[in-house]
Amino acid sequence: MRESVRVLIPEAKVDSMIEKMGEKISRDYEGQEVRLICVLKGGVFFACELAKRITVPVSLDFMSVSSYGGGTSSSGVVKIIKDLDDSIEGKNVLVVEDIVDSGRTLNYLLENLRSRKPKSLALCTMLDKPSRRVVPVTVDYTGFEIPDEFVVGYGLDYAQKYRNLPFIGVIEFSE
Ligand code: IMP
Ligand code: MG
Repeated sequence: MRESVRVLIPEAKVDSMIEKMGEKISRDYEGQEVRLICVLKGGVFFACELAKRITVPVSLDFMSVSSYGGGTSSSGVVKIIKDLDDSIEGKNVLVVEDIVDSGRTLNYLLENLRSRKPKSLALCTMLDKPSRRVVPVTVDYTGFEIPDEFVVGYGLDYAQKYRNLPFIGVIEFSE
């Protein structure tokens, strides 16, 4: 099987989306501080670019949860691999995700974070595949809604590859 990647969203479009999202977040949190929680590993490229576009004071923390193995379908099993370094109690928390697919990971994660009593809790995602939703999730900031295709790049992987592509692409397989 040969793999190839077709461009779905070019780099310039992703970058301008992030710029606009950063401006909106900066307006929404005006006069306040925000703790960005980057969901590893997929959210890391997006979180870094987004953080650079936010003009209110930002602090960063990282969390890693497992939901996918090496393939392209959800296991439904969510496990915390790496927890936050610091408490979020009383903080404005903004979770930064690469993609919301079935919603299972985020549903679990948001419930878990809510129990730690943040002042506010919001979610931003670079990509959303609404047609794949199994568990409802409220997304506060969405970059792009995309069709039900397996995407890679800008942090997203297939079997740990392609995260470093500067655009979002669709992976295609051929004989
Ligand atoms: P969910 O729990 O089904 O919403 O899955 C969320 C996680 O699955 C994301 O944070 C990604 O890490 C991964 N994922 C879902 N769809 C894709 C995709 O199209 N490409 C790469 N990873 C994906
Ligand atoms: Mg992810």
